[in-house]
Amino acid sequence: MPITARVNNAHNLEIGGCDAEALAEEFGTPLYVFDLATLRSLAETASSACSKLWQDSTVLYATKAYFSPFLAELYKGLGVGLDVTSEAEIEIARRAGFSCEKIYLHGNNKTAAEIRSALSAGIEHLVVDNLDEIGLISLLANEICAEPVLARDGGPVREMTPRLLIRLSPNIDANTHRYLTTGVADSKFGLGIANGAATRAFEEILYYPNLNLVGLHLHIGSQVFETERLSEALGVALDLAAEWRDRYGFALKELNLGGGWGVAYDESQNSLDIEQVLRILTDSLREGLDSRGLDKNVRLVVEPGRALIARAAVALYRVGSIKESGGGRTYAAVDGGMGDNIRPALYGSPYNAFAANKMDAPATRVYAIVGRYCEQGDVLIESARLPELRGGDLLAIPVAGAYQIPMASNYNLIPRPAVVVVDNTDAKLVRRRETIDDMLACELSPGPASRLI
Ligand code: LLP
Repeated sequence: MPITARVNNAHNLEIGGCDAEALAEEFGTPLYVFDLATLRSLAETASSACSKLWQDSTVLYATKAYFSPFLAELYKGLGVGLDVTSEAEIEIARRAGFSCEKIYLHGNNKTAAEIRSALSAGIEHLVVDNLDEIGLISLLANEICAEPVLARDGGPVREMTPRLLIRLSPNIDANTHRYLTTGVADSKFGLGIANGAATRAFEEILYYPNLNLVGLHLHIGSQVFETERLSEALGVALDLAAEWRDRYGFALKELNLGGGWGVAYDESQNSLDIEQVLRILTDSLREGLDSRGLDKNVRLVVEPGRALIARAAVALYRVGSIKESGGGRTYAAVDGGMGDNIRPALYGSPYNAFAANKMDAPATRVYAIVGRYCEQGDVLIESARLPELRGGDLLAIPVAGAYQIPMASNYNLIPRPAVVVVDNTDAKLVRRRETIDDMLACELSPGPASRLI
């Protein structure tokens, strides 16, 4: 639950001083409720721990977990940087007036348009994920030199020397869901070490005078609970940095250790403590640089997504039909489901539910919580212990802040939910519920005269 969650006198769930039932009545359901205090506290914990433990360090928020103008404003204010992957993410950051030196462009198949829009916005840090994009980055950087780009101080400059990091594929299994493990040798992400791909990227970058290789990047997966795997990957990167130093005189200036810090969705899991992960990583880094005789003046970058946001939100659903199946289970159907949260169907991710309008009632029944979508796999929770439910009850599913809204779909042509931010008894709508017109806005009719219809 978010840090401000409590049960109020009406026996309802309250977040940020706002009664969940009142929020559901005002904004409708499904509704995603983000608690500003939790968002702030998670980001501040990461930033202050990082700067305390490693002098030259930067925390980036991985925007893929969920991004929108209100989050851009928030993280700008908190001094957190961004890991972005698309033109729209860059555009949101740009409109919020984000400082470009704190933005890193990622992607295993970046388009020329994405690279161009990053460089034109003044984003210098790009994480190289394949050999093909190196020449393209150089070409586009040259092209952009001919146009004014914004300097860090806001004035126009004409030079653009991208600062590149090579994303490594360290051949380490993060022991997470197979769709979430990205550091194994057979992955679409990163450049292999044993097969020479990372060193080929290194040599190719050296070849282009307008590219500046500053460091290495790792992200071995998501929902990683074994911190030893993160330290192991770090060791692999430092081994390679030492090898390149010996062979080419390479100086490692930046090491980006990615994110992936595990977050608990139910009591079968335990969230990694942000400060503790950072302590483990900085201890490993200190020791690793020392034992290899590498220069200690390395900038440490981390880019958690989920760990900064998952816990901050709760999804609210209205219970509709309740059905006894012939197989002996009781199904409680809600007005959302796989359209707003694909995670249980895609990764078998566990969740907990609470009856938000009767928080003090004893949990005497077990329900399968299913959605409203035409798909048998549209099950949010296989087995949830809850009070006796009736149609009209309000269900709260916590840990809803990451990878739910951004992975939402319009399956069955159902509009995606609204998002509110709550703080200190105030609730602000930051994403209105989609309408049928929104969903049909991209549909074009070939016209009555067309031979197609
Ligand atoms: N850095 C890079 C390069 C990444 O690819 C990712 C996530 C992150 C950082 C942040 O990872 P986090 O700290 O949020 O675990 N849809 C999946 C997660 C996919 C993660 C993609 N990359 C899910 O719902 O669990």
